[in-house]
Amino acid sequence: MNHLTLIGLVLVLLASKCTPTRIPKYFKFGTATSAYQVEGGWNASGKGESIWDHFTHNYPKGVVDRSNGDIACDTYHKWREDVQILKGIGVDYHRFSISWTRILPDGFARRINPEGVRFYNDFINELVNNNIEPMVTLYHWDLPQTLQDLGGWTNPDIAIYFEEYAKIVFELFGDRVKRWITLNEPLSFCEITYGYGFGAPHVSSPGIGVYLCGRTALLAHARAYHAYEREFRKTQGGKVGITIDGIWAEPMTNSTEDIEAAEREIEMTFGWWVNPIFSDTGDYPAVMKQRVEERSRLENYTISRLPEFLASEIDMIKGSADFLGLNHYRTWLVGVNESPIDGKPSFQKDKGTQMHQDPNWKPSPQIVPWGLRKLLNWIKKKYHNPLVYITENGYLDFSGTLNDTNRVTFIKVFIDAVMDAVEKDDCNVQRYTYWSILDDMEWSLGYTAKFGLYHVDFKSPNRTRTPKISAEAFKNLIKRRQL
Ligand code: NOJ
Repeated sequence: MNHLTLIGLVLVLLASKCTPTRIPKYFKFGTATSAYQVEGGWNASGKGESIWDHFTHNYPKGVVDRSNGDIACDTYHKWREDVQILKGIGVDYHRFSISWTRILPDGFARRINPEGVRFYNDFINELVNNNIEPMVTLYHWDLPQTLQDLGGWTNPDIAIYFEEYAKIVFELFGDRVKRWITLNEPLSFCEITYGYGFGAPHVSSPGIGVYLCGRTALLAHARAYHAYEREFRKTQGGKVGITIDGIWAEPMTNSTEDIEAAEREIEMTFGWWVNPIFSDTGDYPAVMKQRVEERSRLENYTISRLPEFLASEIDMIKGSADFLGLNHYRTWLVGVNESPIDGKPSFQKDKGTQMHQDPNWKPSPQIVPWGLRKLLNWIKKKYHNPLVYITENGYLDFSGTLNDTNRVTFIKVFIDAVMDAVEKDDCNVQRYTYWSILDDMEWSLGYTAKFGLYHVDFKSPNRTRTPKISAEAFKNLIKRRQL
């Protein structure tokens, strides 16, 4: 290479570094919340009790600051102001969830609460009138307590009740809502509760319950998908998907064992849900079936603790999504852990993996954008490049500072990684959702953990909202459509 070619090459490289990443026209940006975390009004106007109401009222020690979502951000009363905040940021859509017990106070389809219907009608209309597309999650962890009393997600009949609830919601709001998410993070609501015994509904069944919950959840999702397909698709023309949380697992070392362990970690946390719906087999990942069966035998079970699907159920689950909703927060270093006596719950031992975060990931171990790019490529390769919406990605701090520069960096570098996945790797990603627009009730962490673009003063009766600098940064990014 002569001197001139070298100089030319350097100039081209410099130019490409200086040209800001353009965001394709079709790509949309939004924010997200969930009913229990922001609404409050826990028993207002006929709303029934959910498992999170029940849990926080009866086991207050289950939340670090002994708080609850009784008032939360008071969106139940402040929805107009919240829509103006969203409009100010300029989001294309807003993802929020419907509280099952606000619509059906005791969980069953036999009694609809008109006040609950009015609340969501008002909110949806306000969004639409302000040019913000509503993207609705049907279930974001707040199961009716009445259904919990029947066994909750370990009872397969919950799938039938969920389908009935879903049909009512499609019927009520489907003329305006065109993007539906059936379930939010089944891994979390099965693993954190049945698996680790944390949070609502305060039961622990790490050997069997965690997998029973998962089975019912997949069936519930598939039933709701097919109900839409059968009864609403033609007239309403929307899309129905599911939101799964996926970490990226980077092998701890180059050893074959660690590489396999990292892959297994992804398969047994993410593939658990995605494989039945998006793969050609319509079933759990092979490695998951094999591992749980082996370990069950060691524990003297006569059959695997992972309950099988019937052939007809596989047919129903396979292909039951128009898009994959992806929640992504973290990359972990993962390696093998074969120790049989490690005090972990059985579903953890089934995987035989160990994980930790790399302290060398600077400026913060949370900011590992290449993990998301790798995960998007993993999905593309494994499942024929499905349509992906990133339905959550967010930065956690405990300070609540308005000067949240780390959050600004987080948002920029993650969107940059998504753009690389879209433009350089041809991954079919079309939406990016920041979690969350507001600081909110972060489940067992109560009000101590902050993800919001807006600070909320939980001590003021008015729940005053104040923008952080990340709100301005996200707004500018959406407006200029470049990084
Ligand atoms: C996942 C959940 O969907 C949401 O409810 C939660 O607040 C965020 N991640 C942050 O942990």
